[in-house]
Amino acid sequence: MQTAQNSRNGNSPTPRIAIIGAGVCGLGIGWRLAAAGCTVDAFDQGEPGRAASWAAAGMLAARAEVEPGEETLLDLNLKAQEIWPGFVAELESASGLPVDYRDDGTMIVALTRDDAEALRFTYDLQKRLDLDVDWLSGIEARQREPFLSPNVTAGIYSPGDHQVDNRKLVIALQRAFEAAGGAVHAQTTIRAIDIAEDRVRGVVAANEESDDIHHAADVVVLAAGAWSRDIDGLPTELRPPVRPVKGQMLSLRMDADAPLLRHVVWPPGVYLVPRNDGTLIIGATVEEKGFDGDLTAGGMLDLLRDTWEALPGITELSVDEMWVGHRPTSRDDAPILGPTGVEGLIMATGHHRNGILLTPITANGVSRYILEGVVDPAIEPFTLDRFAKRRGKRARPAPDGKLGVVS
Ligand code: GLY
Repeated sequence: MQTAQNSRNGNSPTPRIAIIGAGVCGLGIGWRLAAAGCTVDAFDQGEPGRAASWAAAGMLAARAEVEPGEETLLDLNLKAQEIWPGFVAELESASGLPVDYRDDGTMIVALTRDDAEALRFTYDLQKRLDLDVDWLSGIEARQREPFLSPNVTAGIYSPGDHQVDNRKLVIALQRAFEAAGGAVHAQTTIRAIDIAEDRVRGVVAANEESDDIHHAADVVVLAAGAWSRDIDGLPTELRPPVRPVKGQMLSLRMDADAPLLRHVVWPPGVYLVPRNDGTLIIGATVEEKGFDGDLTAGGMLDLLRDTWEALPGITELSVDEMWVGHRPTSRDDAPILGPTGVEGLIMATGHHRNGILLTPITANGVSRYILEGVVDPAIEPFTLDRFAKRRGKRARPAPDGKLGVVS
């Protein structure tokens, strides 16, 4: 087992932690560590939490998002879902701010016969995986959501798939992190991770005022989302295989007192997330276009057409906002968490479609490793070395007990 002394300077009474990326995962880890007495600095190239964390819809949807062959990820997602209510209570108390966690449940609906067949396939998969979901007729779906189109012919109801307002989550996490003594460095780019003799020494930062400030740290947490791969100083084999997957989204304004929807609803090709204040989030395209940030007519057309077919009442709603986000997607769509072959270098990236859902378990698992040296069984299958194993390499303990990689 790797120990905390392996992952940081054992002589330091208050470990110095540098977190690259102040999104929800970086802030969540930082909050836990600062609350435990560590000195924590979180760096963000923009404003904290304004990249993928802000662009997300806040769905906590382990069951609705399940894909064939992703049982290990499902397990992590379900564990994350279980701890969400406790995490919300703790965060709202620490920050004094609401995050609008809602447990109305999620519905996936079908419009055509083909959709219904695809939905039946999803339902059979969910049932095989022992997930708590119910099949709905079209009438039952409309009993739950009366404004759905009469063309809705079937649905799945997942009572355990919930939602949180991810933007409120960002604000609350930043507040809790700073209240615990953590420092956020906005508009500060990490140019390089300083690694010498197989252990981290800190990071090299740059902002508007100055270039190349060396910031010493015993532990560096790489939580830079889609930007995690290209930071100087990382040995090639420790560059996480994470790429940006573009998503276009928009929001409409409903009457908060008479919303068109109460559940999160997934019609074919789109998902709809109603917020307490009447915002209706509509997402999202899935595009392999790197960091392209353009909103396109085609993207908006697809989202609005797919929404309108299931929920015709949207024609009267005003458009609030349109935006683009970049999912941090790993080679196997699962997150990359925990220790690496470099002492003190810790990963918390690659969360793909599940960054908000996985925030509490990432915060708990990664901070536990840093504080106690224990790789939590929940995150153990998600360490970086799984990719080396798949390439025919195997992980081996280095002489000092760290994970290393041999061909
Ligand atoms: N989890 C929703 C999305 O990635 O669009």
